[in-house]
Amino acid sequence: MRDIDGKTRVIGIIGDPIEHTGSPAIHNFIAEKLGDNVVYVPFHVKDRRLEKAVEGAYALDIDGLNVTVPHKIAVMQYVTELDDAALSIGAVNTLVRIRGGYKGYNTDFSGFMRQLDSVDMQVNGREVIMLGAGGAAKAVMYSLQKLGAEHVYVLNRNVDKAKENFGKAGNVTVLGFDEWKQIPSGKYMAVQCTSVGLSPDDNDCVISDDGFFELVDEAVDLIYRPKETVFMKKVAEHGGKAYNGLRMLMYQAVSSYEFFMDREVPGDIVEALYHELDS
Ligand code: ATR
Repeated sequence: MRDIDGKTRVIGIIGDPIEHTGSPAIHNFIAEKLGDNVVYVPFHVKDRRLEKAVEGAYALDIDGLNVTVPHKIAVMQYVTELDDAALSIGAVNTLVRIRGGYKGYNTDFSGFMRQLDSVDMQVNGREVIMLGAGGAAKAVMYSLQKLGAEHVYVLNRNVDKAKENFGKAGNVTVLGFDEWKQIPSGKYMAVQCTSVGLSPDDNDCVISDDGFFELVDEAVDLIYRPKETVFMKKVAEHGGKAYNGLRMLMYQAVSSYEFFMDREVPGDIVEALYHELDS
């Protein structure tokens, strides 16, 4: 336990529910390794108190907050400034203290990009299949477009919602899961952004047709519990490489910490953190 004194800074996370968050363990690990005099704590904030919570955090001189379910969209109306990427994605998961309030950022997208970089997955010029069209998928789509994906095939249960979220881009095709055969044959990168397969429903997979997995040569499943989802197993069974979403989770936290504390987290600490999270 680190010493808390008169100079200790406070950062944290707001959400509802919040009890199961893994963010305090990650941020406090980094703070301890770096010797930063800061503590990261969870705050249980109900919808109706979100505005007051943000104002109150500022009044309490809190340096920064992560924002999780269900506040990532609603909190956008209470920020003083909004980062361009967060605006494009339509969600904020990080509030960084500035003069007069907080600036809203999205580090889910940067976390995803850093994960791709760390495992040497190249998006530029690639054709990609993205499964899902919710909040996480929006951050992934932003990353894929920024990294220069050639074309993105979006598969989602609710096709209308996927069209609304992504259909305007010229290089996106939206399909239902039962329409995957419309994807031209070839080898694709796949990103699994639905919640299907998440523990305790470990045996579920959003797409059951084995033929689909012939199309995939590398994949990320944003789920990290279980460590290996059925989706990942199927990719591997068909000769592809598959990663879970633990690095994205970790890197979004690292990116947030870097915003909060205005310093870089060195690679050796990031790797030590990954080791800790993966054990
Ligand atoms: P997140 O913030 O994790 O992305 P979300 O915004 O609720 O969460 O999105 C969940 C995603 O999982 C959506 O793509 C959702 O599909 P719909 O858009 O059709 O709702 C997908 N999903 C959740 N449960 C599903 C299920 N049983 N079958 C197929 N897709 C499912």
